[in-house]
Amino acid sequence: MTKRDFRDKNVKTHMSYQVKNYDHLLGATGLSEQLLKNHFTLYQGYVTNTNKLSDTLAAMLEDGNTGTPEYAELKRRFGWEWNGMRLHEYYFDNMVKGGKSLNADSPLSKKLVEEFGSLENWEKDFRATGALRGIGWTALYLDTTSKRVFNTWINEHDAGHLSGCTPLLIMDVFEHAFMIDYGLKRAGYIDAFFKNIDWTVVSSRFTD
Ligand SMILES: [Fe+2]
Repeated sequence: MTKRDFRDKNVKTHMSYQVKNYDHLLGATGLSEQLLKNHFTLYQGYVTNTNKLSDTLAAMLEDGNTGTPEYAELKRRFGWEWNGMRLHEYYFDNMVKGGKSLNADSPLSKKLVEEFGSLENWEKDFRATGALRGIGWTALYLDTTSKRVFNTWINEHDAGHLSGCTPLLIMDVFEHAFMIDYGLKRAGYIDAFFKNIDWTVVSSRFTD
């Protein structure tokens, strides 16, 4: 076994990301099977490409090819693919068919009220963020340093993340997340998303 074979074996054995199965979401309120299955396939592509980039960059490092335009562009690409993978996992993980409601006495609920004045105001801001023109994501973030929470817009997969913050609730607002079912009516999709939020999962991501 050559050094490269050994390295490749290690990479594939220990470092490859695995595709998560989200078939349990089929039948979610207001989201068709066709839309969800297409979405799962898109997500799988991000996992594949993240693994491919990880392996390729490791090989380029070992081969001394780091001072090249190819290495630079693949390095830039990595964050886009990786976030495409991980954001989809946060998104699908914070959904469940029919939704699970937020416990009004939970620390997260109290934090949202503290920050936004009321849960209604938080939701209004989250929906408004999701309605921004463009393709990307809406994130409810916890700043682990200040313990504040923010609704933010992430452009595509990689621009707009808040450093050191923990994603609590993630909503996909790329057109592929809703156009099959809703056309240009993104608000209808956001309504459906809210009916499928698993607040048990979202609350579990919050540590005050
Ligand atoms: Fe997506």
